[in-house]
Amino acid sequence: MTGVTVVDHPLVARHLSVLRDKATPSGDFRRRLSDISMLLLFEALHDLRVREDAIETPLETTGGMRLSDEIVIIAILRAGLGMTDGALRLIPEARVGHLGLYRDEESLQPVGYYESVPRHATDAEVIVVDPMLATGGSAVSALDRLKEDGVGRLRFVCLVAAPEGIAAVRERHPEVPIVCAAVDRELDERGYIRPGLGDAGDRIFGTD
Ligand code: PRP
Ligand code: URA
Repeated sequence: MTGVTVVDHPLVARHLSVLRDKATPSGDFRRRLSDISMLLLFEALHDLRVREDAIETPLETTGGMRLSDEIVIIAILRAGLGMTDGALRLIPEARVGHLGLYRDEESLQPVGYYESVPRHATDAEVIVVDPMLATGGSAVSALDRLKEDGVGRLRFVCLVAAPEGIAAVRERHPEVPIVCAAVDRELDERGYIRPGLGDAGDRIFGTD
């Protein structure tokens, strides 16, 4: 699939298996999600722009590098919060923004309730994180919103994607790369990803 990277790594596959397992309690779920998020972002950011920078080792000057661009992580609330800690362990200097969106249970349409986007996002590399890409409504709405603010460089990182969600993002935002751990079979009639892992927000926060 153009623009879609499914990260193929035994550790990603193992973490995802534990996350799918309904017997995994919230605390383990949160830790695993944080760890797998690091691995997914590591892959998603492999082509970050860098510039050379001289470094003083204790013995001599040598060539080093810096990231050319600021990094901004945008977490789609609530479940994107479960990926933020892993992202910040990977990129401690990143700034973090939040977009509050919930999916109406009947219409499956995203409803916005909160926004806090760092002003630096306009010129930064911006990574939108949300574990689940189901119908794609939430991801498309978040990407729409960020583009309205003038954000130019966007990537979307999720854990599990449905074919329907990928198609929706590809249609509306074809230049935004999608990185995920798995593309699952389908959406069911309630808009859940099958086989999926259930409601990611509920599993992170123990609210079901
Ligand atoms: C979940 C998930 C995504 C959205 C995906 O959030 O975290 O944001 O659903 O579905 P979509 O692709 O069909 O839009 P939810 O609306 O359940 O809110 P929550 O994170 O607060 O639980
Ligand atoms: N949101 C979730 O948390 N899980 C799904 O399967 C679909 C949307």
